[in-house]
Amino acid sequence: MSNGTLIVGGSQAGLQVAVSLRQLGDTSPIILVGEEDHPPYQRPPLSKEFLAGTAALDSLAFRTPGFYADSGIGLVCGERVSEVSLSMSGPPGSGVAMTASGRELPFNRLALTVGAGARRLPLPGADLGGICYLREYNDAANLRTRLSTATNVVVVGGGFIGLEVASAARTLGRSVTVVEAAERLMARSVGTVVSEFYRQAHVRRGIDVRLSSAVSGFQGERGRVTGVTLSDGARLPADLVLVGVGVLPRTELAEQLGLVCDQGIVVDAHARTSDPSVVAAGDCTVQPHPITGQGRVRLESVQNAVAQAQVAAATLLGRLDNVMSVPWFWSYQGDLRLQIAGLAAGYDTQVVRGDPADEHFSVLYYRHDRLLAIDAVNRPGDYMAVRKTLGQGASIAPDRAADPDISLRSLVDGPAPTAPAVQRAKA
Ligand code: NAI
Repeated sequence: MSNGTLIVGGSQAGLQVAVSLRQLGDTSPIILVGEEDHPPYQRPPLSKEFLAGTAALDSLAFRTPGFYADSGIGLVCGERVSEVSLSMSGPPGSGVAMTASGRELPFNRLALTVGAGARRLPLPGADLGGICYLREYNDAANLRTRLSTATNVVVVGGGFIGLEVASAARTLGRSVTVVEAAERLMARSVGTVVSEFYRQAHVRRGIDVRLSSAVSGFQGERGRVTGVTLSDGARLPADLVLVGVGVLPRTELAEQLGLVCDQGIVVDAHARTSDPSVVAAGDCTVQPHPITGQGRVRLESVQNAVAQAQVAAATLLGRLDNVMSVPWFWSYQGDLRLQIAGLAAGYDTQVVRGDPADEHFSVLYYRHDRLLAIDAVNRPGDYMAVRKTLGQGASIAPDRAADPDISLRSLVDGPAPTAPAVQRAKA
């Protein structure tokens, strides 16, 4: 290859960097290298439609095979980049990478979109057959096969992955227990009202939810898991265990390059790493809060992968646009559709809109009467109204927001004097 951009990581963020470079007019070579055998695909359906059997791998691919050739994007699948170095004498940002199979990939520009891996539980018996993780297509295919014959499913971790898998398993008629270490479900992502709602709703659907519970080990026979022991001594029968206890960002290559990492590759609002000629995007990064610009957050979401990759591509071409975007997330657990917009961290007031008892409600989060975020359960209109409002740098008056008969759009205040209007990067 005549040297162009090397994108390491065949993820949603990696593909988006390539697509955005082309959309911004870059005609130089692009190589996108992914460790998995499959061209870039959507991960969110893996724990939903794919497990339920309503989506096949082909339908998850972002692009047709012809797209890559037509766009001049050299797609390399099934190769892991194991080493990377920057040139001391060449142009800033140029260097060479080496794959595990010995392939050399020189580059003039480098983007790291290497994502994160499922955190493992280093407990006795953790290598037994039937103990599964879910991050990649191959994980999901394995889990789907095992779910088809399982009887007793234990899910370790009551976050998005754990609860989506628990719902799918329960819908298939399996006996399901969720073991969560924290005192409430999805504590990383939602507020207390929503956590408690989900506990009750999953219990209503027949799932046994154990909070504040730690796993101390797994038992097995003939190499296959048969049970899970909790630290209080309880023993749960299990022929399938799904562990969903969070992710660890992949920082090895960034560390080889001497880039600053702190629970992720540290980037600025322009997706620049501590070496400003190298960009990073997606789940592998930590970045300033996308609305306030303060602190550091890791945003594990499709929305961030796309938005940050668009910014990274612009940065590689020397355009430092001032682009910010409203974070949003979703988790569909059976018929319970959770949609989140904004970031609620630091809220001082919450407004519950609608009645959790009828499984259609929202919680709006405020700080000093200014809207920060929403968790919406089966209320997509509320979610869209808040997402749009935050995108305009505006707020929604809290005093009447609790009344579900009043449209949130009718309560929108103007932009905050100091709040920058949020621009959306072009898709
Ligand atoms: P998570 O961080 O959402 O949840 C992990 C849960 O495991 C937490 O509730 C935590 O308290 C619990 N936990 C940690 N250690 C434990 C232990 N030893 N025993 C029991 N519980 C323990 O991570 P999760 O669910 O694994 O998801 C992984 C990634 O996939 C995240 O980035 C998530 O955002 C992403 N994802 C996103 C989805 C979406 O946007 N809809 C759907 C599924 C996954």
